[in-house]
Amino acid sequence: MIDISHKIKTLRTAIAQATLKVSPETIARIRSNRVPKGNPLEVAKVAAVQAAKNTSDIIPYCHPLPVDFVGVEYSIGKRIIEIRTTVKAIYKTGVEMEALTAASVAALTMYDMLKMFDDEMEITGVKLISKTGGKSEYGKPVSLPVRAAVLVLSDSISSGRKEDQSGKLIQERLKNFGVKVIDYRVISDDREKIEMQLKNYADKRKLDLVVTTGGTGFGPRDNTPDAVANLVDYEIPGIAEAARVYGQERTPLAMLSRAKTGIRGTTLIINMPGSRKAVAESFEALFPAVLHSFAMIAGGGHFRQRRTNRRLKGNNF
Ligand code: MTE
Repeated sequence: MIDISHKIKTLRTAIAQATLKVSPETIARIRSNRVPKGNPLEVAKVAAVQAAKNTSDIIPYCHPLPVDFVGVEYSIGKRIIEIRTTVKAIYKTGVEMEALTAASVAALTMYDMLKMFDDEMEITGVKLISKTGGKSEYGKPVSLPVRAAVLVLSDSISSGRKEDQSGKLIQERLKNFGVKVIDYRVISDDREKIEMQLKNYADKRKLDLVVTTGGTGFGPRDNTPDAVANLVDYEIPGIAEAARVYGQERTPLAMLSRAKTGIRGTTLIINMPGSRKAVAESFEALFPAVLHSFAMIAGGGHFRQRRTNRRLKGNNF
């Protein structure tokens, strides 16, 4: 089973379809309620709901997930019954296997209920129609050029007593998202120095992004959030909170960070805590969705969700 513990939760949806070929007489029987085992359309609906909820028990590598909705619809032709299932969940992984399992089990349930008088029956296809959700939908590696600086704030690292790990990780992660890191430096926790460096990045060099690491707690030399609060035109509490919420679900120590995020001019300043682990977690929480900020700052309007739907031709239910 794949480890998904690092993933964020998003609304996931999936639509699947199964097709059952039957004889015209079977269709007539269903329509006139003459199936001895009961109404196959109704029973298959219940079976589909149960199947969606139990997918992880049947399919070995599927994660158990909290199913929020299962819908089942039918399209009945002369010789076919098309079953379309919709599954929704707010979770870390997709629900396509739930939708496919639901459609398959609905088809098998009907097969079982109808087999006593129909020799022509065949389940001719089970397929995924569409799926949405997941982190990748909320931002891709940037298309606009984004120029960034990484600023490590630490007395011990700037004096050479400790080696920087977090700043290096930030650089690596930013590059993976297509962000150009044009400056990386380590300075002490002096508030004036921090403010001077941030002003230089925002006002003189007009960078798009500055990611800082360290100095976000409440030790006597933890000055980073105060420097940021003093400099920015406005804060963006949602970004800092998203990182804290994600962190808090993994370690109760996440609440000890006062990290802030804000805009000065056209520069987005993001604080991350000092540990490498906290930086890795902050990236999981914020990226790639935060990259949408740059289009907004540039006046490029709002983010359009990328559709990963694979649309079915014809046959609309
Ligand atoms: N946030 C996440 N996601 N993961 C972490 O491990 N560590 C915390 C917190 N935020 C942590 C985290 C700890 S131990 C501290 S003291 C505060 O961030 C402040 O860290 P800083 O002073 O190095 O910025």
